[in-house]
Amino acid sequence: MKHEQVFLIGMMGIGKTTVGQLLAQKMNRLFIDSDIYIEETTGMSVSQIFSSLGEAYFRNLENIFLNSLPHYQHKLVIACGGGLPTLPNALERMKKNGTLIFLDGDPRVLFSRIQQNGERPLLSNEEAFVTLYKERLIFYHQADIRIDISHTPEETATALYLRLQELWS
Ligand code: S3P
Repeated sequence: MKHEQVFLIGMMGIGKTTVGQLLAQKMNRLFIDSDIYIEETTGMSVSQIFSSLGEAYFRNLENIFLNSLPHYQHKLVIACGGGLPTLPNALERMKKNGTLIFLDGDPRVLFSRIQQNGERPLLSNEEAFVTLYKERLIFYHQADIRIDISHTPEETATALYLRLQELWS
């Protein structure tokens, strides 16, 4: 079925994990996060993988994660790492398995919020972050639903729950 899985996409730090967990509760679904899946399967943190094995290695792990999705028996809510939708054919593969939600927000506000967290790779400076955001919009805008993160995670999850019911009715 087209709406088997729900994918949350968007920049790092936008709140995909928090909103995704709340949405999964409302939908009575399991929640998974591509970064956590990768960390659990490799036994390494995302930043360790980036620093010791490199970004290409990490992207390959994301690719393996995507390829494993059709084998899941459960209906899930899936938070995707920020760069995952830019992988070759990633959007096609996700769309084949479900519905995509783009969590959006001002990248400058986002950058100032997350820069304190030194654990995140690809966070060199504000301009680079804004450029990365702009480069990724072409991918993110292919989502079925776009929502601005201007409310609390709880309100956002409720709004998404209702939008999904509407979309699927
Ligand atoms: C990345 C986002 C991160 C993580 C990795 C790379 C990116 O995930 O996958 O650090 O390229 O934007 P979150 O979006 O969950 O922070």
